[in-house]
Amino acid sequence: MSKLAHLMHRGTEFLGCEVAIMCGAMSWVSERNLVSAISNAGGFGVIACGAMTPELLDAEIAATKALTDKPFGVNLITMHPQIMELIAVCAKHQVSHIVLAGGLPPKGSIEAIKAAGAKVLCFAPALTLAKKFARSGVDALIIEGSEAGGHIGPVATSVLAQEILPELGEQLPIFVAGGIARGGLIASYLEMGAAGVQLAESR
Ligand SMILES: Cc1cc2nc3c(=O)[nH]c(=O)nc-3n(C[C@H](O)[C@H](O)[C@H](O)COP(=O)(O)O)c2cc1C
Repeated sequence: MSKLAHLMHRGTEFLGCEVAIMCGAMSWVSERNLVSAISNAGGFGVIACGAMTPELLDAEIAATKALTDKPFGVNLITMHPQIMELIAVCAKHQVSHIVLAGGLPPKGSIEAIKAAGAKVLCFAPALTLAKKFARSGVDALIIEGSEAGGHIGPVATSVLAQEILPELGEQLPIFVAGGIARGGLIASYLEMGAAGVQLAESR
């Protein structure tokens, strides 16, 4: 096994793909074509549900499945008024990985995702919350710094990584996001204990 494959092993095992690189969900951008292209290339595509209705998400997942037989995830915004219906749509399609984004997961959401047999990933903006998520049965964390595109917290990726990876990096897979644009930086986060990375605008 190459050194890179070894460093990415936990992430590739968790995601079920060839390289432990998630393509971060981008609302109204991460749709069937981008997601299937990423997954077909060996990465891990993630549909951005954003403000989609359950009916639109249903159609988007079905269309993505028609374009790839590789694993992909769905990113759901926690403040969506129909979050539980969206989780049910993912369950209907047996989506393997659900990313809960945009705040604390609503009551019952983590349990509903796990009951459907999917893995759940949450964003951890601080060590205390990361520990809380680990205790709540979240399967993996994403730590996303202020360099990232979209709306995120004030702390830099490198600061969050140094705070959270040494504490929890062995306990559960952690993916690092925000401002990662070169392979050297991916390698350095893997060396620090990350399971993989999530890229979007900076790639
Ligand atoms: C246009 C745009 C839309 C985004 N939409 C979402 C979203 O719907 N849900 C989410 O969790 N993250 C969203 N993000 C964040 C990305 O998934 C990703 O974590 C982040 O952009 C990574 O940092 P990078 O852009 O520096 O690579 C968005 C980012 C961009 C640039």
